[in-house]
Amino acid sequence: MRIAVIGAGYWGPNLIRNLYETRACSEIICCDLDSRKLQKIKDRYPGIQTESQYKKILDRKDVDAVVIATPVSTHFPLGKEILESGKHVFIEKPMTASPEEASELLRLSEKVKRVLMVGHTFEYSPPVIKIKELIDKGELGKIYYISASRVNLGLHQKDVSVIWDLAPHDFSTLFFWLKEQPARVSAIGKACVQKKIPDVAFINLEFPSGCIAHVQVSWLAPSKLRRTAIVGSKKMLVYDDTENIEKVKIYDKGVNYVDPESFGQYQLSYRTGDVVSPRLETYEPLFMEMKHFIECCRENKKPRTDGQSGLRVVRTLDAAERSMRNNSVVVEIPA
Ligand SMILES: NC(=O)c1ccc[n+]([C@@H]2O[C@H](COP(=O)([O-])OP(=O)(O)OC[C@H]3O[C@@H](n4cnc5c(N)ncnc54)[C@H](O)[C@@H]3O)[C@@H](O)[C@H]2O)c1
Repeated sequence: MRIAVIGAGYWGPNLIRNLYETRACSEIICCDLDSRKLQKIKDRYPGIQTESQYKKILDRKDVDAVVIATPVSTHFPLGKEILESGKHVFIEKPMTASPEEASELLRLSEKVKRVLMVGHTFEYSPPVIKIKELIDKGELGKIYYISASRVNLGLHQKDVSVIWDLAPHDFSTLFFWLKEQPARVSAIGKACVQKKIPDVAFINLEFPSGCIAHVQVSWLAPSKLRRTAIVGSKKMLVYDDTENIEKVKIYDKGVNYVDPESFGQYQLSYRTGDVVSPRLETYEPLFMEMKHFIECCRENKKPRTDGQSGLRVVRTLDAAERSMRNNSVVVEIPA
């Protein structure tokens, strides 16, 4: 496989490193408008080819696939040109800047029969996959609600709100776990530092199954939190991605409630049992993500995080952003 990576800013070098580690690429080409970034990549990987004009890569018939790690506003025009040139494409999250763009890319990828994969990295992460197994096996029972915090000091973005920057991770993870997308979304946020670019948002999601979720995202917080609590009818779970070893803890806690026939029979008993931390695999999610992309390109297979999954997340981001900018009005998301 010959793969090009467009964008060697903050995130692109991580994708390049993991593509190298798959040992499945005969050539990796790095493209960036900034020659200093290309030089940095060359210093680190002397064998890598560099290019400042992405169009030259699209003209090369021997390049099979392109990975996009550029700012969100460029994802759609680049993705469209790449697919039209007959190459497979991997686009970093969020897939596009609007649901209309996401739908168009999805249609195009189906028409030209090329892979469209989106960088929902957490769906390749061992704790997230373990939690999915637990939910699917019914270990937690019916999921009542999920509450997630993804906050830290920085990195403030110049072109998108904190919702478009950070919430794709939580949305893709929630939809992966619950196997559904929300029916309704509302959000409140505030632009504290940069004018008109909200750096904190509190988002509420309501799913068709009845599960509700709250996602808190911020670039302006005293410490780093990556904590998700899942409360089910049988057990509860905490996923803390800042923990080194025990990232997932399952609490055998709950309440037993018997419907009373009379007031005298009113019964509510709290249960507090063991806390268990399951063993987790130790691979890097990005490595699995890149490996999966290569496999999908080779076999022309639908990726786990395909264009449809990108569209679901973009639709929800768009709904949350609209709610936040319209006094927290509840926005319905069509099924
Ligand atoms: N999956 C994750 O966990 C994760 C983490 C961070 C960022 N990201 C995503 O990665 C993407 C890039 O984010 P970043 O923080 O690295 O941005 P960045 O601004 O640091 O880097 C973007 C790079 O793209 C280059 N670029 C822009 N337009 C170009 C073009 N037409 N041709 C060639 N180069 C071009 C810029 O020169 C810059 O070097 C975003 O979509 C972001 O959401 C994903």
